[in-house]
Amino acid sequence: MSQTTHARRMSAWLAATVALVVAIGAPAALAHGGGLRDVARRPLIGTAVDMNALANDPTYKAAIEREFNIVTPENVMKWETVEPQQGVTDFSQGDALVRFARANHQLVRGHTLVWHSQLPSWLTSGTFTPAQLRDILRRHIFEEAGHFRGRIYAWDVVNEAFNEDGTLRDTIWLRALGPGYIADAFRWAHQADPHAKLYYNDFNLESIGPKSDAALALVKQLQAQHVPIDGVGFQGHLSIEFPYPDTFGANLQRFAAAGVDVAITEADVRMVLPATPEKLATQATYFANMMRGCVAVRRCVSFTLWGFTDKYSWVPGFFAGEGAATPLDESFQPKPAYFALRDALARRGD
Ligand code: G3I
Repeated sequence: MSQTTHARRMSAWLAATVALVVAIGAPAALAHGGGLRDVARRPLIGTAVDMNALANDPTYKAAIEREFNIVTPENVMKWETVEPQQGVTDFSQGDALVRFARANHQLVRGHTLVWHSQLPSWLTSGTFTPAQLRDILRRHIFEEAGHFRGRIYAWDVVNEAFNEDGTLRDTIWLRALGPGYIADAFRWAHQADPHAKLYYNDFNLESIGPKSDAALALVKQLQAQHVPIDGVGFQGHLSIEFPYPDTFGANLQRFAAAGVDVAITEADVRMVLPATPEKLATQATYFANMMRGCVAVRRCVSFTLWGFTDKYSWVPGFFAGEGAATPLDESFQPKPAYFALRDALARRGD
């Protein structure tokens, strides 16, 4: 994207943010004492939100209100939820999250428009020509981004499109539409919601290596084609079973230097259960390192946890025998990771 377009969109967003602060009448920090959101102005600090827990667990809800100034729907803006039958859309749970966020002066990251997973069964089991699939994808992006137009800070437009070796993942989209589906998706999303920041988002992008090289090349290619990409999301699903990705900070920096915002979008740090004080201490260093990496890069705009309490984390359901991946335990008690994150945020110096 050109500098001018970027500057124009930045100032539009800034104006909206200023208007929000004026409407609130006081900085969020005064309205919500004592959470992570009150520690620093950048990065925004967020969590994925489980809408069932939000509706049914008052402790969960109060913690989100207290701690965070940006939220991401963990599942309810995914295609299988928003269009369960072809042509029948249901944005009610996403709308509920947007209302909740607005009431609590929080921004919303939209997740996600184009992915190979959590697609509706009518789409995965149907027989469509490439032309039909292109039309289905375009229609989906216009419907969803259009529905939430003006209410989403940033969209994960394309999620997890790369393999570990940096080649494009073999998905329904690549197979039918070829690699150009990515540029098309960003163009359509921009038309549908011109003020939303548009992100490419992926896991295992943390280290400098073939996968992040490919994502950086994608950014540069899209920019060269004047395709509106604003940011790259580094999911940050780490495990203490593996060494901390030491090149993460430098990696964030090289994306920022390419002229895009960066964000940590789905941070968690899992471990083999049971948790011990030693493992929790190691986990705390991983979270703190991620936060420090973000804090050090001016264009690292947000740091989102993929769940903040072990009570509702996705991890045990996906990694047998692993868990304890979030900063609060199942009783919402802070672990060392919570304090490590808070300290790393507080050491910004501004
Ligand atoms: O909604 C159904 C419910 O009706 C049913 O009774 C229940 C029985 O298992 O399943 C429910 O659906 C589950 C859904 O989460 C909502 O809870 C799915 O089985 C489950 O597979 C799904 O998992 C989500 C996963 O994405 C799917 O790939 C996780 O909650 C969610 O945390 C995870 O998030 C992804 C990001 O979107 C992208 N990056 C990786 C990240 C972690 O995998």
